[in-house]
Amino acid sequence: MRAAMSAAEVGDDVFGDDPTVRKLEARMANMLGKETALFVPSGTQSNLIALMAHCERGDEFIVGQTAHCYRWEAGGAAVLGSIHPQPLTNQADGTLLLADIEAAIKPDDPHFARTRLLALENTTGGKVLPSSYVDAATAVARRHGLACHLDGARLFNAAVALGVAVDTLARPFDTVSVCLSKGLGAPVGSVFVGSAAIIAKGRRLRKMLGGGLRQVGILAAAGLYALEHNVERLADDHANARALARGLSALPGLTVSMPDTNIVFVNVAAEYASAFAEHLAGQGIGVTSAYGATQQRWVTHLDVGKAAVETALAAASEFFAANATGTSAR
Ligand SMILES: Cc1ncc(COP(=O)(O)O)c(C=O)c1O
Repeated sequence: MRAAMSAAEVGDDVFGDDPTVRKLEARMANMLGKETALFVPSGTQSNLIALMAHCERGDEFIVGQTAHCYRWEAGGAAVLGSIHPQPLTNQADGTLLLADIEAAIKPDDPHFARTRLLALENTTGGKVLPSSYVDAATAVARRHGLACHLDGARLFNAAVALGVAVDTLARPFDTVSVCLSKGLGAPVGSVFVGSAAIIAKGRRLRKMLGGGLRQVGILAAAGLYALEHNVERLADDHANARALARGLSALPGLTVSMPDTNIVFVNVAAEYASAFAEHLAGQGIGVTSAYGATQQRWVTHLDVGKAAVETALAAASEFFAANATGTSAR
């Protein structure tokens, strides 16, 4: 990847003449079965551009409480777009109830914000949304004249987990945001994909948000390399995550959900939570907390392979061998 970056031909992408960026945009649009695409610095900016491209000031988007573009992006849609979020409870499988979506869509009445957009996320919390659910949820949105955006930061993980082509998962949506900098392994960058008209709006918004970059083909080259070399291998990350989950679930004090993809959520009994996190950190094992100190998020990826999983499991076992006391540990 570094060699591809160093050899990349560049231009000025603010003028739209960086050949490597154009190649990446064309390739991603083609893979997702959409008209065109826009290379952007981050997934956060890509989602914000999507929300601002679909919604005007005072419009509303329907979104999950745990969705990245609602919960984890500093309220950018409201702050920078004057767009009103209508968050709905995510079910345990990551979905939003169809009845909740339907009930949240406001009638055309001056009391209400204008509901314009349904934003879904796939994968969400590491879970793959069932395609039948996506079809049903987007059908509800369409029936009410809403547009549909997908935060597909990890869409390639979903496609590999389901064994389907990525364009199948993109098809129900007007726009999709894909991150290159997660499991695909590029250092930087996301791609916003959709029709020529919406991407033209997106290009203006990208400039407004400070995301227009100049000789950025060096980063697009990393994205192209990732699309070529790092998609099929996501299956290895998923297998490693399952092995990690199986190993951790055998330990006292931990409750582990079996992952669909490369993210393993682990609940740690409160009495061990901080000491366990410190023990792992002391062994150079980075684990983030998800919703509070007792819920950990473990991730496998191209730099955390089978051997790293074995090392992590050994470190976790060592902790509980030294600290767990009888059955109270459960
Ligand atoms: C589902 C999802 N969407 C969007 C993003 C934002 O990506 P970035 O960190 O590139 O802004 C993330 C980041 O973790 C994410 O998990």
